[in-house]
Amino acid sequence: MKAIAWTKYGAPEVLKVKDFEKPSPKSNEVLIKIHASTVTAGDCRLRAFNVPMGFWLPTRLVFGLIKPRVDIIGMEISGEVVSTGEEVTLFEKGDKVYGTSGMRLRANAQYISLPEKSSLVKAPTNTSNEQAVATIFGGLTAIHFLRDKANIQAGQKILINGASGAVGTASIQLAKYFGAEVTGVCSTSNIDLLKSLGAKKVIDYTKEKMIENNETYDVILDAVGNLSLSQCKTLLAKDGKVILINAGLLTNLLSMTRKQVICGVAGESKESLTFLRERIEAGDIVAVIDKVYPLTQTAEAHSYVDKGHKKGNVVIFVKHEKN
Ligand SMILES: NC(=O)c1ccc[n+]([C@@H]2O[C@H](COP(=O)([O-])OP(=O)(O)OC[C@H]3O[C@@H](n4cnc5c(N)ncnc54)[C@H](OP(=O)(O)O)[C@@H]3O)[C@@H](O)[C@H]2O)c1
Repeated sequence: MKAIAWTKYGAPEVLKVKDFEKPSPKSNEVLIKIHASTVTAGDCRLRAFNVPMGFWLPTRLVFGLIKPRVDIIGMEISGEVVSTGEEVTLFEKGDKVYGTSGMRLRANAQYISLPEKSSLVKAPTNTSNEQAVATIFGGLTAIHFLRDKANIQAGQKILINGASGAVGTASIQLAKYFGAEVTGVCSTSNIDLLKSLGAKKVIDYTKEKMIENNETYDVILDAVGNLSLSQCKTLLAKDGKVILINAGLLTNLLSMTRKQVICGVAGESKESLTFLRERIEAGDIVAVIDKVYPLTQTAEAHSYVDKGHKKGNVVIFVKHEKN
């Protein structure tokens, strides 16, 4: 099978299209024919090893000290089950599935084997593979931080900084689903996008400062990493919470002693993927896709995502020869 080989940390050019042996599922695994995958800000951070301050060593210990431990990059997949191990009970051949391989990686490929108990569920019934896969990275991050950590409630006011990226576009829609009033921060060309997704107010960061408009918020989600804790305090309502998803190790440690500050890494589970699927099927969350690249151009997709200005998500389309 074709897959994107990842043998060293560095620029997008370290990624190469190579032939690998098609995986065969163990007794508790399913073999998935992948139709679509993604290139996310998280993939680019890993590839270049550009991780938040203080996380260099812990992350290298997980992903490989000198070179990547796993030889194929990528995390999100949408596709179909083509065979199952003998102990598998949750899936059968032909099931359309979506999910994430997480730290197992190996998703930028034509096939992947995953344990049936991993973060993998039936795909939404009303989307293409490209749309389904595009919702996963931002969707799971938004569910983790807004639903599970900040416990967002109807009537609350939320400020989303970096609202036009994968996390931001999913967060606007999820916050609106929970009945919150969203203010999104973006540049001029993304104002209409944010409004179409449900933002009530938009701050154009090229023209206005967040601090100057005298508003306060119950929840602040910083998906950019350019807000300091003291700036957030000025913008927070009483008992408000600030979510810093790009914080360094020191802020992460500090957040453990302050109920107001939420940091950490987004979790993933069958439950959150199922919740996301229900939101998609109900029309509460739609996929926002900026560009679609063929698998063979994954390195080019990384170069584009590296620029830091994508609108929503970048999807990888995986072609299979007819046989
Ligand atoms: N802690 C976790 O578990 C976790 C989970 C997911 C993601 N993350 C991190 O969160 C960050 C965001 O992820 P993402 O996938 O949403 O990234 P992304 O899609 O690459 O974000 C790109 C967007 O950011 C906007 N942006 C850039 N500079 C901005 C600024 N100064 N103010 C407002 N918006 C700005 C861009 O809009 P313009 O073109 O208009 O500038 C663009 O639309 C990444 O660093 C990622 O690594 C952390």
